[in-house]
Amino acid sequence: MNAKMAAAQAAVGLVTSGMKLGLGTGTTAYFAIHEIARRIKDENLEVEAIATSNETATLASSLNIPLITFADCCDLDLTIDGADEIDERFTLIKGGGGALVREKIVASRSRQMAVIADESKLCHHIGKHAIPVAVLPFGHESTAHKLSRHAKSIRMRMNTDETPYVTDDELYIYDLQCDTGLDPLDIERAVKEISGVVEIGIFNGIATMAFIGYADGHVEKLLPHW
Ligand code: A5P
Repeated sequence: MNAKMAAAQAAVGLVTSGMKLGLGTGTTAYFAIHEIARRIKDENLEVEAIATSNETATLASSLNIPLITFADCCDLDLTIDGADEIDERFTLIKGGGGALVREKIVASRSRQMAVIADESKLCHHIGKHAIPVAVLPFGHESTAHKLSRHAKSIRMRMNTDETPYVTDDELYIYDLQCDTGLDPLDIERAVKEISGVVEIGIFNGIATMAFIGYADGHVEKLLPHW
């Protein structure tokens, strides 16, 4: 079985009727959304969910998963989402798919966040993967100038046709390549102080468990400080 699918299915095993869920974005979350839909159909599972991107909302709707918004509910029970990197302290890099702003809003409003990933995402210290930062289009060149003080290199995310990549919330993304020796708390704090920054894809103290899938189909459940 596909490692991402195995991890996603294991995490969805935590879902019970009555739960309010956060639905992540990306290729691993895709499998979780399908598994939730399968359980709704086959097991009469009753859940409601908030999607972290337009793409996820479209997929969930097409699979008949009932969607709600924060106008309809307060705390979520469980968010299931992927990550670009996961370290020993459960600090994550997220936003490779561009949905980091909504992902952080949703995950930080959840009692539990289950990260789902294949083993390639595990690391001792985050920072090998670029760190996405979502910024307002207005003055983004100035914002980028200030961001560059915190990175070895910085790159505006572009589409394949070389137009700027724009998120669901009409934001631009800069990908920061930092030192692997970075202190995630320091960089998160420093970057969030820059005017024009909306969110950074470092998730500190938000994930409560991780399901790591392996190529042979087995899944390891990790708790912080694995
Ligand atoms: C989406 O914005 C991201 O945070 C994804 O959750 C992350 O990039 C992992 O994506 P995959 O599951 O596609 O690897």
